[in-house]
Amino acid sequence: MNSPKAIGIFDSGYGGLTVLREIRAHLPQYDYIYMGDNARAPYGTRSFDTVYRYTLEAVKWFFSHGCSLVILACNTASAKALRTIQQKDLPVMEPGSKVLGVIRPTTEIIGKFSLSGKVGILATKGTVQSGSYPIEIKKFYPGIQVYQQACPMWVPLIENHEQDSSGADYFVREYLNALLKQDQDIDSILLGCTHYPLLQNKIMQWLPGDIKLISQGKIVASSLADYLQRHPEIDQKCSKNGEISFYTTDSPDDFDLQASFFYGESVRSSHAVP
Ligand code: DGL
Repeated sequence: MNSPKAIGIFDSGYGGLTVLREIRAHLPQYDYIYMGDNARAPYGTRSFDTVYRYTLEAVKWFFSHGCSLVILACNTASAKALRTIQQKDLPVMEPGSKVLGVIRPTTEIIGKFSLSGKVGILATKGTVQSGSYPIEIKKFYPGIQVYQQACPMWVPLIENHEQDSSGADYFVREYLNALLKQDQDIDSILLGCTHYPLLQNKIMQWLPGDIKLISQGKIVASSLADYLQRHPEIDQKCSKNGEISFYTTDSPDDFDLQASFFYGESVRSSHAVP
């Protein structure tokens, strides 16, 4: 067997850092390689083919760095590329390796948050159009009704540090109202994009007090812990020195400046060419 290597964490850019932060808090003993495809972000507005192609290139990059387990910490990539990569590419490319996403772990437990059986999803246009959340939630909770709303202005607001500004109020209210208008009994709302936790304070200001807001980071982290426990054959391929490295497909200087907002700590990244 090759020597154990870091767990790969992928996102279109910065959003996956909100997931990595929780994964690292939960599983500090593992090594991680984070790669953000900033040069080609955002993914949320791109076609299936493009998101699939970019994500596959990223996954190959992680494999070329020895990773045996790659987490797509991006809802859009999980929605538009994961299934094809798992079913078509992985068996011929790296049969002993695994690629996991963020949608499945979230949909497995989302029903536990709702008493009314009506759940809202806020996500990128791409994730909403893929229908992945309604499809996956039906598998685990056939009785739950799912309502979706795309929030195309939220990623640019967050990336321009406008998440707490009065300008953000308009778009937070706009999308929340559009979602809640679909059914007045929605009692739980998922932030189905890894950027959105940065907008959480503003969303809470406008969210009716009896509606629960669900973030994915902790859910994905505890699901990964559970997965590694249930799959010792994968766990033994993951190195455990508590180390982490960051890569971006765009400028490392720009990445380092922006990344700390998402990760909560300063980072030093290197350039990656998938
Ligand atoms: N991080 C991506 C997600 O979770 C959204 C950002 C993008 O559009 O690239 O869907």
